[in-house]
Amino acid sequence: NTTPLVIAIDGPAAAGKGTLSRQIAETYGFQHLDTGLTYRAAAKALLDRGLPLNDEGIAEKMARDVELAGLDREILSAHAIGEAASKIAVMPAVRRALVEAQQAFSKRKPGTVLDGRDIGTVVCPDAPVKLYVTASPEVRARRRYDEIVGRGDAANFDEIFADVRKRDERDMGRADSPLKPAKDAHLLDTSEMGIEAAFQAAKAIIDAALKG
Ligand code: CDP
Ligand code: CDP
Repeated sequence: NTTPLVIAIDGPAAAGKGTLSRQIAETYGFQHLDTGLTYRAAAKALLDRGLPLNDEGIAEKMARDVELAGLDREILSAHAIGEAASKIAVMPAVRRALVEAQQAFSKRKPGTVLDGRDIGTVVCPDAPVKLYVTASPEVRARRRYDEIVGRGDAANFDEIFADVRKRDERDMGRADSPLKPAKDAHLLDTSEMGIEAAFQAAKAIIDAALKG
């Protein structure tokens, strides 16, 4: 069987998907795509041009122009870009355009790790390994808070907590590709786990799945 292997990682904001995906990709020698960056890149293109966030045709055009090679986590990290991304992510035409690019990526050799919200359910439903990474909203807000304060910036925990809840509602409540675990996903609750413990737990699941 020469089909490249896909590891699908989904979960809510700040669950630790990105951290875990990068460690897994490095460990198995796979390519990694943070699909959230594709939504962020389309959103940034709209914001930069002063274009509306509620016009599906215009947003689709920006989504079609997103180039995977140009995705830069640093440039796309602004809070306002994440907010705008979750707004255009409810649009089916935007999702179709980005999912096509993500599916093309998933076929790369020698294998790939994709993380996002709908990888195991929509983008790569046949992935042989699916992880649904989660943590309580309090823990996720705390992680975001620590991240911002660690950078030396000011942060308000209550505001961040409210943002996390709002993002969850939008991601889980939308009609097209809502965030939810795939039926065959392995659940990994990292509320009580540090980064290394979460990685070891994920690695055990992946190794067992690849053997079986
Ligand atoms: O890093 P953060 O948790 O803020 O989110 P992200 O992964 O950068 O994704 C930004 C937004 O894009 C999410 O809130 C989702 O609304 C959307 N997204 C999506 O709908 N499907 C994906 N596969 C990835 C992201
Ligand atoms: O990609 P996603 O938004 O799901 O989360 P992330 O960017 O990987 O992680 C969010 C923050 O939580 C980062 O600062 C991680 O270092 C931290 N984290 C943690 O403290 N414990 C974990 N088990 C996983 C992530």
